Amino acid sequence: MAISDKIIRSATLENMADENGIINVAKLFDLYKNISAKTIITGFVYVSENGHAMQELQAGIVNDEQEFAWKELVSKLKNERKDLTFLMQIAHTGRQTTRGNAVGASSVKCSYFRNKVKTLSKEEVEEIIDNFKEAAIRAQRAGFDGVQIHAAHGYLIHQFLSPYTNNRKDKYANESLFLQEIVNSVRSACGEDFKIWLKISYADDRGLTLDKTIKYLKTIEGRVDAVEISYGTMEYALNIIRGNCPADNVLDINPLFNKYPKWVLALWKIFFAPSYIKKFKPFTYNYNYDAALKIKKEIKIPVFLIGGIRKLEDMENIFKSGIDGVCLCRPFICEPDLVEKINEGLWKKSKCTNCNLCTVYCDTKNSIKCYQRKN
Ligand SMILES: Cc1cc2nc3c(=O)[nH]c(=O)nc-3n(C[C@H](O)[C@H](O)[C@H](O)COP(=O)(O)O)c2cc1C
Repeated sequence: MAISDKIIRSATLENMADENGIINVAKLFDLYKNISAKTIITGFVYVSENGHAMQELQAGIVNDEQEFAWKELVSKLKNERKDLTFLMQIAHTGRQTTRGNAVGASSVKCSYFRNKVKTLSKEEVEEIIDNFKEAAIRAQRAGFDGVQIHAAHGYLIHQFLSPYTNNRKDKYANESLFLQEIVNSVRSACGEDFKIWLKISYADDRGLTLDKTIKYLKTIEGRVDAVEISYGTMEYALNIIRGNCPADNVLDINPLFNKYPKWVLALWKIFFAPSYIKKFKPFTYNYNYDAALKIKKEIKIPVFLIGGIRKLEDMENIFKSGIDGVCLCRPFICEPDLVEKINEGLWKKSKCTNCNLCTVYCDTKNSIKCYQRKN
């Protein structure tokens, strides 16, 4: 397989839906038709109303109207790009939301969102497993080649996987059971040919560890087609993506902060920000590589790497070491045609500077774009 075929556009929130979670087909078509990756994963899509993340323009897959819009998009895209593999990332936000709908494996508050978290009853957990299944069925009907189940970044599945957020006493105290049941129900509903990928944080800044992640992944071997290895939760969101911390922009535009008077924010910057920022890990190239390689050696699921992949030479070495695919997010925001350029021998290194303005503006109603690229 050519290197360029193994470069995947990782899930990236587009903010191209309306307040009802219905996608703007024309805008998304324009975005996706220009992303040169052979495999594209959509931004995270909510599987139930109470799984809607803080971003108001997040897309959903919970009703017919939303499904029909996705169907129209898939049909237009597949018409334009016959060889495209198109996956929908399906997610439940759990406690990581500002919308007043925060639920969790347990009632442990998120230090970033700080709102009250309701512990899900066993019946509610079962209902959410069903929501994931229904979402996957809708995605399949809409023409997607598969789904990526979002078990990373501190969203609901991650909250079950981490002993820090899972203090349950019922059968879901077995941390990977929720994930296993979601995978099983999607697989039995959608069949063997429908791709089921997974995105997982191999560790976080609290209770999840690499060894636990390997143990969890072994429980779903043979039932998922690939796993993308990421890191972290929204508590220290910069550790998911690494790079520049545009703190002033965050305080200015993020609805979690800009509701406070300026003097409160000024005090926060002086007294609290330094200790918070100290917890951020620096950007290094391919920063999840060592963990992904260890996982690759231990489990029988194709392993994809995400995080800080910026150079063609690194990709070649990553593939040589046995990793099955690389996923890129910010480089595609910056240069959608990068795979085309690789095929023409014109791309060696990403122009993305990890300024992270694309990330910060994700929390507004702005559609995804690069804030550095001049065009
Ligand atoms: C603007 C933006 C939006 C993102 N949206 C999602 C998302 O919807 N789902 C997800 O799993 N990760 C999301 N991420 C995380 C990326 O997929 C990826 O894990 C992270 O950016 C590191 O990869 P990179 O160095 O190639 O950017 C997003 C990141 C950015 C910068």
